[in-house]
Amino acid sequence: MGILDAKQQAAFERDGFLVIEGFVDRDAGDGLRARAAEMVAAFDPAEHRSVFSTHEQERTSDEYFLSSGGEIRFFFEEEAFDESGELRHGKDGSINKIGHAQHDLDPVFDAFCRTPDVAGVARDVGLVDALLLQSMYIFKNPFIGGEVTCHQDATFLHGDPITVTGFWFALEDATTDNGCLWAIPGGHRTGLRKKFVRNDPFDESAGTHFVTYGPDIDQRGAVAVEAPAGTLVLLHGLLPHFSGPNRSPKSRHAFSLHCLDATADYGNDNWLQRPPSLPLRGFA
Ligand code: FE2
Repeated sequence: MGILDAKQQAAFERDGFLVIEGFVDRDAGDGLRARAAEMVAAFDPAEHRSVFSTHEQERTSDEYFLSSGGEIRFFFEEEAFDESGELRHGKDGSINKIGHAQHDLDPVFDAFCRTPDVAGVARDVGLVDALLLQSMYIFKNPFIGGEVTCHQDATFLHGDPITVTGFWFALEDATTDNGCLWAIPGGHRTGLRKKFVRNDPFDESAGTHFVTYGPDIDQRGAVAVEAPAGTLVLLHGLLPHFSGPNRSPKSRHAFSLHCLDATADYGNDNWLQRPPSLPLRGFA
């Protein structure tokens, strides 16, 4: 049974994104926010302080990130720490995101993602045999929420063919004041510009680099995608999009899930790899 009507499907094909207000049940959205708050409360930043206070900061941060594909990990905002390594806005106000496998490892996230409605939307946009690849709980905290520069999700999650599709759920109102998404309508038809790849598929300490295929994305024509809490924004993997910093006093929580089709060849040069003990799963 389809979820998207013909008009919505046509809009997604034309624009590369689709805004569906009221998609998320209020209780489900509140439940996800509450679960994220519990996770943050249980997270001890001291465990990872060394990541940010040693002279090998970049390398250790890379490893922490590159090995997070099958974990639930916490990533700080760039501006979270002062010169002495102390959190400027406390733990709660400093986390950028939680990632990247809570959709498989946490029952609340699992249930939020694996609903007939989300599965139906995936089917409606052409994912015949969808796999849930990555999830991120994004805080975009007041005052220090960082910008996300213009990118295509397929840069970071590339398969052959490109089938990666983003499900971006607004858990709080997202506005131009607190760093909503911006997108370039139709920009998904201009090809993949870059791939982010591991230097060594099997060595997380070896780092990453970008392979460039085309000119930088022309950001003229970008439109703000303001989204009240409960909205699903569906993003084609090739759609250029970005979000501004949050300098406002209001947080902008969102949850994003990325799926790809099982028929796509997902190379081992992708940054995100799952351990053999945690194979990718579909909606069932
Ligand atoms: Fe993105």
